[in-house]
Amino acid sequence: MTTRPILIIPDHQLRTTSAPVGKIDSEIRKLVEDMFETMYDAPGIGLAAIQVGVQKRVITIDVAREGEDKKPIALINPEIIAASDETSVYSEGCLSIPDYYEEVERPARVAVRFQDLDGAVREVEAEGLFATCVQHEIDHLNGVLFIDHISKLKRDRVIKKFTKAARHTAAI
Ligand code: NI
Repeated sequence: MTTRPILIIPDHQLRTTSAPVGKIDSEIRKLVEDMFETMYDAPGIGLAAIQVGVQKRVITIDVAREGEDKKPIALINPEIIAASDETSVYSEGCLSIPDYYEEVERPARVAVRFQDLDGAVREVEAEGLFATCVQHEIDHLNGVLFIDHISKLKRDRVIKKFTKAARHTAAI
C-alpha cells in the first residue's frame, strides 16, 4: 500500500466528472488499497478517487470513531437511489480544502446502490455521519465540493484564499 498525494483546490481536476468503473481489476483493487492508506494517514473519514487524481467512480469511507474497530467500506460506481425529506446539518471538512469547516445541510438518510470489490451490486441505507459522508464523496465524483452547498460569499472567500496560497507555492 502506498499513500498518494491529495489534490487541493483550486486544482481543476476536482471539478471534473469521474467515469464509471468497468471491470474491477487489479488496478482498481490497488487504487482502493492506496485510497484507504491515504485516507487513514491524512486522517480523514472519506476519500474519492479524483482527490488522488484518478478520474474513476470509486470512494472509500470509514466513519468508525476513535477507539472503535475500523469499518472500511469501498463503493464502486455509487449512486443515491433515495433520499429522505428530513435533513441534518453537519460541520463538514474536506481533505482537498484543508483546515476549513462549514455547516452543510443534506438529507438525513439516503439509500445508496454500489458495487463491492467483487463486482456484486449492493444497497446500503445510510444515516447519521455515514449519510453525510457518502453524499459528500459522491458529490466529488460529479465535480461538486461541499463549499458549493454554502453561501456564495463564504465560498468565494475560501476559493480566493486557496488560489492565493497556490500562487505563492508556485512562486517558490
Ligand atoms: Ni471531500
